[in-house]
Amino acid sequence: MKYNRSGKSGLLLPQISLGLWHNFGSVDNFENGENIVKEAFDKGITHFDLANNYGPEPGSAETNFGRILKNNFQGNLRDQMVISTKAGYTMWDGPYGDWGSRKYLLSSLDQSLKRMNLDYVDIFYSHRPDPETPIEETMMALDYAVRSGKALYAGISNYSASETKVAVEVLKELGTPCLIHQAKYSMLERWVEEGLLDVLEDKGVGCIAFSPLAQGLLTNKYLKGIPENSRASNPNGHLKENEITSEKIQKLVQLNEIATNRDQSLAQMALAWLMKDSRITSVLIGASSVVQLNDNLDSLKKSKFSDDEISAIELVLKSIS
Ligand SMILES: NC(=O)c1ccc[n+]([C@@H]2O[C@H](COP(=O)([O-])OP(=O)(O)OC[C@H]3O[C@@H](n4cnc5c(N)ncnc54)[C@H](OP(=O)(O)O)[C@@H]3O)[C@@H](O)[C@H]2O)c1
Repeated sequence: MKYNRSGKSGLLLPQISLGLWHNFGSVDNFENGENIVKEAFDKGITHFDLANNYGPEPGSAETNFGRILKNNFQGNLRDQMVISTKAGYTMWDGPYGDWGSRKYLLSSLDQSLKRMNLDYVDIFYSHRPDPETPIEETMMALDYAVRSGKALYAGISNYSASETKVAVEVLKELGTPCLIHQAKYSMLERWVEEGLLDVLEDKGVGCIAFSPLAQGLLTNKYLKGIPENSRASNPNGHLKENEITSEKIQKLVQLNEIATNRDQSLAQMALAWLMKDSRITSVLIGASSVVQLNDNLDSLKKSKFSDDEISAIELVLKSIS
């Protein structure tokens, strides 16, 4: 594993991190999730990403992760892990279980720590910007989370480039630098290239790319349609069938051909393509099996691209509507 510094901070994150959004809820097979986390750590993945609402049911991924830690990572192994959680999406009923108030963020963090049976998380994120709450209040909650020792670092997620500028400035004034921005970024979703990455580089903030495989689309899984046992066929999955058009599949087939010519799987090429940008601190993958995890880890074996390969990929990507 290679480790990259998150922006201008002191924290090193693995080039590939593991997220527990899908496959770790109370509806999923616990042993399978436990094996994925164990294998990931054995292969040098030190960073595990959660959120209050991951499941389903919401909260159950954190509860299961707490069980995995208890079963396998006792003692000072905690000091070799970077564990993150977030609050910002709907978590509980009533006016205090959603968005970006100090009330919500700090009570949610306490709940997350209880579920995972942890004294602190390494990174606490505002999961999304809240147009109704002053950004100062949301950032003050992150600052307080760090000062109270319940989190070591503060992060933001899904903030636009301009919102990020303000959030980073406010955090800086409060004395708690913004460690990282968690942003959706893949070959199929490139909004971060239109300003956000420049802001992050300028401000010395890291970037961790989530859904780098576009929830599985950028793998060999959907090249012949939607198979069983896929996120798109799972009623609890967030990848919707109507996102998988025959036109898109055709393009994925073309990308797969380029990957094959590079002696890589499509998943490996999609991850390597993100990792070639030094502004990307880490790619945050999901996996529903140990086999997938290891397929993805092999992307580290071939991360360089020739100019011709980059142009060929660009040509396909530009033609995707
Ligand atoms: N901040 C945010 O708002 C936000 C939002 C979303 C996600 N995230 C974070 O990002 C993490 C990753 O998101 P993601 O799960 O969407 O990432 P992803 O890596 O784009 O997709 C992961 C899914 O793709 C399939 N897959 C992975 N590797 C494969 C392979 N080698 N071959 C075939 N299929 C493969 C699996 O789905 P199947 O079930 O089809 O096998 C797997 O669960 C989340 O866990 C979470 O921590 C954050």
